[in-house]
Amino acid sequence: MRVHIEPAGALVGEVEIPGDKSVSHRSLLFNAMAAGPARVTGLLRSGDVAATANALRALGVGIDERPGEVIVTPKAGLVSPSQPLDCGNSGTTIRLLSGWLAAHPLYTVLVGDDSLSKRPMRRVTGPLRAMGAQIDGRDDGNLSPLTVRGGTVRPGTRHDLNIASAQVKSAILLAGRNVGVSVREPRQSRDHTERMLIAMGADLSRDVEGWWNLQPVTTLEPLDVAVPRDLSAAAFWLVAGSIIPDSELRLPTVGINPARAGVLDALKRMGADIQIEPLDAPGAEPIANIVVRCTQLHGATIDGNLALRCLDELPVLAVAAACADGVTTIRDASELRVKESDRISRVVGGLRTLGVRVEELPDGMVITGGNLRGPGHVDAHGDHRIAMAFAVAGRRVPGGVVIDNADAVTSSYPNFFDQLHGLGGTS
Ligand code: S3P
Repeated sequence: MRVHIEPAGALVGEVEIPGDKSVSHRSLLFNAMAAGPARVTGLLRSGDVAATANALRALGVGIDERPGEVIVTPKAGLVSPSQPLDCGNSGTTIRLLSGWLAAHPLYTVLVGDDSLSKRPMRRVTGPLRAMGAQIDGRDDGNLSPLTVRGGTVRPGTRHDLNIASAQVKSAILLAGRNVGVSVREPRQSRDHTERMLIAMGADLSRDVEGWWNLQPVTTLEPLDVAVPRDLSAAAFWLVAGSIIPDSELRLPTVGINPARAGVLDALKRMGADIQIEPLDAPGAEPIANIVVRCTQLHGATIDGNLALRCLDELPVLAVAAACADGVTTIRDASELRVKESDRISRVVGGLRTLGVRVEELPDGMVITGGNLRGPGHVDAHGDHRIAMAFAVAGRRVPGGVVIDNADAVTSSYPNFFDQLHGLGGTS
């Protein structure tokens, strides 16, 4: 699918952001191993979450999708699937599922699309092998398809990670759930797994040295989850509302988990006009209504812990930087190169087609704001966040932006273009 996004006036109104992708995956996977059925509302219905749901179904778990809710019914004694489990475009599916499966005495094969088949898996297969799991893949376990022969995990292993990754941390905790395991990361990545496991009754706590220690889990209580709306999806509207003149957008009930709310801090650092109204949240995740109004942004430095806390939002923050006064430096974000695409080179290339001066760094980029001009052209092939980031730019630059393979948005935000159109401006 090719779309051409052009300026079409201010964005004004309320946007119903879809459910949080990370929490959606976890609400299915974790309830699938609970002691009874659970109800999930607000689940993201997208390609990535469908991959997790379909994999669980193939293993015998009940995933009953009804209007407005999904019922997850665990199955004692999982079925060994006769076909490979297709993880599609979803890194969270393949990495969390490989840990989840390591604890089960089953033989499974995990495959993905072109993009996923290029992404590094040693970060999970390495620790899982160290736990005693039999897991393999191309390039000595670094590339999918992965094969998992589970049920052989040793108790009490300790994993001092050299990257901060919620997917890796979660795979280890899931693999070690029956026997106990400890994991520590160099910086704290998003903690949805820890929050949800604790809410389900797991004995999981962090000690003063930063180790997450999980005691062997005998029973996990089923957890009804009201999935918050996805801050990573909201980020496109936070930037669009900031850079498109006269815009004012209201984004209700969005998740603002501090471990991943860096986009709010980064935009504030750039002078954005953002109001956050925290709400009482019954679940494990904090939520808020957010209002954004257009204002002239200025350059800022996004690095260190802040870069980790807004890693998924950096492509669209780079678009904001291109519209800002002055220079924005993004550093400490080399992980961006191993996402659904090499997002550093994709963003740099896309911004250059828009006339922006941008220097590529190994771990980020330096963007000189203020000279964005269209028409631009990007190919989103395999990367939803690239498609949406440049769609936002298209609403701002004269001549707009053409996006090829824009259907990548189905991974995380299937109705993104419909909503953008509803607020005026796609063709
Ligand atoms: C995710 C973790 C992050 C993030 C991804 C979702 C998760 O990846 O980029 O979109 O749900 O655990 P890493 O774990 O690779 O940092």
